[in-house]
Amino acid sequence: MQKIYTKVTDKMNFFQGIDPTELAEKYGTPLYVYNERILRQRCRDLKNLVKYPNFVVDYSAKANSNLAFLEIVKSEGLEVDAMSPGEIYIEKLAGFEPKEIFYICNNVSAEEMQYAINEGVVISVDSLSQLEQYGKLNPGGEIAVRFNPGVGAGHHEKVVTAGKKTKFAVDPEFIPQVKEILNKYNLKLIGINQHIGSLFMDGTAFVESIGKLLEIAKQFDDLKFIDMGGGFGIPYNKEDDQPSLDLNDLGSKIDEALFKFAEEYGKQVTFRIEPGRYISAECSVILGTVHAVKYNHTHKFIGTDIGFNVLQRPIMYDSYHGVEVFRKGDKKSENTENVTVVGNICESGDILAKDRVLPEIFEGDTLCVLDAGAYGFSMASNYNNRLRPAEILIRENNDVVLIRERDELKDIKRHMISLKKY
Ligand code: LLP
Repeated sequence: MQKIYTKVTDKMNFFQGIDPTELAEKYGTPLYVYNERILRQRCRDLKNLVKYPNFVVDYSAKANSNLAFLEIVKSEGLEVDAMSPGEIYIEKLAGFEPKEIFYICNNVSAEEMQYAINEGVVISVDSLSQLEQYGKLNPGGEIAVRFNPGVGAGHHEKVVTAGKKTKFAVDPEFIPQVKEILNKYNLKLIGINQHIGSLFMDGTAFVESIGKLLEIAKQFDDLKFIDMGGGFGIPYNKEDDQPSLDLNDLGSKIDEALFKFAEEYGKQVTFRIEPGRYISAECSVILGTVHAVKYNHTHKFIGTDIGFNVLQRPIMYDSYHGVEVFRKGDKKSENTENVTVVGNICESGDILAKDRVLPEIFEGDTLCVLDAGAYGFSMASNYNNRLRPAEILIRENNDVVLIRERDELKDIKRHMISLKKY
């Protein structure tokens, strides 16, 4: 195997000496590959974010909810958030106790809310309507409310979840009405939470939002926890040495706010964060195969099996993911070229990497898409009736294990009913 362009995976020792072209051959492509050592390290980075003693990291499973992945997160002592009954279900299978699951729901039916109540998980609602609904279903119960601190942040307008333009959370202006509903149903407000958006590389907005959230917290007497949300970014452009989020600096700014609040509030409060991407993105890559190389007018296209059914982020948010190249055999070239790497889906928007300068790529090369562990497989689909990829894990001792089988053709028919039946 030749390493044609492998700056980032080499630096991270991602493959731990294992040959990615052999993984591609053995398991087929497209293939999600996870590295257990890096995943565990990211869990530990965030557990050590602050010095404040009552601090819990809830991993946000929407970023990646593979069962084996969650089992590792659990073994690192993290708790989890959930966004749907499906996430609650898989988190329980991974070993999380109900009290370790924080269900942060948005616009859910009474049935769905009842499911969460029956499961015994802690619930956060984010509108007066949903607070009423909870009150009717579980009078006298304990509840959390998600507030909008008025400050948002994120890598794309679609993922900014606080501020003036979002469907999420309760505007603090409605605190009197929140209190009324709490009284009406004898509910106990045990927590408040926020999530300002996804992917900040500079903690300014996050720290500002914490200040606002703590002002809201002071208006409630018996909070057990305050959840500051997720959004901790990772550098997607590692080839150009984009720096990582400065956790030390951010941690000390957060600490300042937390210790000060704890003193003023006069009661023990647990502070929580709910990062998804920071924990899951960097411990995974996608391996794919180049099946065609061609020119169309001025563009050179590299045609692969990594369509947007496999990784949606580029088409959905114009997201950047680094691409590396491995080659079996001894074909050589000194050229570098400006190319556009595309998938095999029937839309022109099926572009994985636009206008990249890469070494000359040939049919049969193995491409490696970086930072794919967050919102990668969890947003994969069967569009074009394509099969969702397999997922494998490189363990700390270099064992490679399959943690999700590739879909099979018969999965495409699953749940469909032929008219022949009627
Ligand atoms: N908490 C709540 C309530 C959330 O809605 C989210 C993400 C998180 C925590 C975790 O955010 P993180 O730490 O991962 O940034 N699909 C998009 C990201 C959507 C994020 C949705 N909510 C992407 O691929 O960039």
